[in-house]
Amino acid sequence: MSYDTLLLARDGAVATVTVNRPEKLNALNARTIDDLRRAMLELRHDASVRAVILTGAGEKAFVAGADISELASGTPVSGRDLAQRGQHVFDLVEQLGKPTIAAINGVALGGGCELAMACTFRLAADTAKLGQPEINLGIIPGYGGTQRLPRLVGRDHALDLVLTGRHVPAAEALALGLVTRVVAAAQLMDEARALAAALAAKAPVALRLAMDAVNRGLEMPFADACALEASLFGLAMATDDMKEGTRAFLEKRKPAFTGR
Ligand code: COA
Repeated sequence: MSYDTLLLARDGAVATVTVNRPEKLNALNARTIDDLRRAMLELRHDASVRAVILTGAGEKAFVAGADISELASGTPVSGRDLAQRGQHVFDLVEQLGKPTIAAINGVALGGGCELAMACTFRLAADTAKLGQPEINLGIIPGYGGTQRLPRLVGRDHALDLVLTGRHVPAAEALALGLVTRVVAAAQLMDEARALAAALAAKAPVALRLAMDAVNRGLEMPFADACALEASLFGLAMATDDMKEGTRAFLEKRKPAFTGR
């Protein structure tokens, strides 16, 4: 498949999706949102891909948010549609069924911060800045930001970021729990590729079940979430990879997981 606003590269079991509008700091226009939707569907159904890196083209931006030139002429109805489309696409990212790594190479603002939050891991360059500056445009986050942010950093810090719109430097984002790891900008893609390769070598079904248990379980009462965990644990026991993983341990060798 080809994409107008994304680059999609594969290296073994790792796919890298690069939002490619550097002249607009990779702002998400309608085309980009639809390209992301199609890319997520392509990657979800490609069993040869076991981990995905998302990043932005150029050195300044991961994604500088929704495209403000498109927002400016919006109406209440088009705004609701826009938010629902974006939420749907970011849900596809979160529920890809394989780990996703946001390699945050510059500003991740508005929809950029929301895209990063939909990923499983957030690796930030030490030069990156994150935030939800929508308030400065007279709007609020609409791609899941008001919901994923408090789940990551807690209600008070989420309200701080959403109401002030301030840009948070990478080191503070790490302290808040908004990013998983901060690395030197020059090392960012190497670190992201190393993490992706390590994840790609794990048992894919177990990865998927673990992500389901955490993400779906968080939205459930504790006892129901534990019941879900037990069911998914049982499902993992049915895989060839479980037999391979336990056998490899007992035989003192590295497992070779097949995804079955
Ligand atoms: N939507 C549309 N275009 C955007 C954009 C966005 N979210 N963010 C940046 N751009 C465009 C700029 O309009 C500019 O285009 P131009 O060269 O045609 O004028 C280009 O990208 C470069 O941005 P510029 O503002 O000149 O870069 P800067 O280094 O001075 O500032 C930012 C960088 C990120 C601080 C600034 O671009 C910004 O505040 N962007 C908006 C962030 C935002 O509010 N996001 C939430 C949107 S809901």
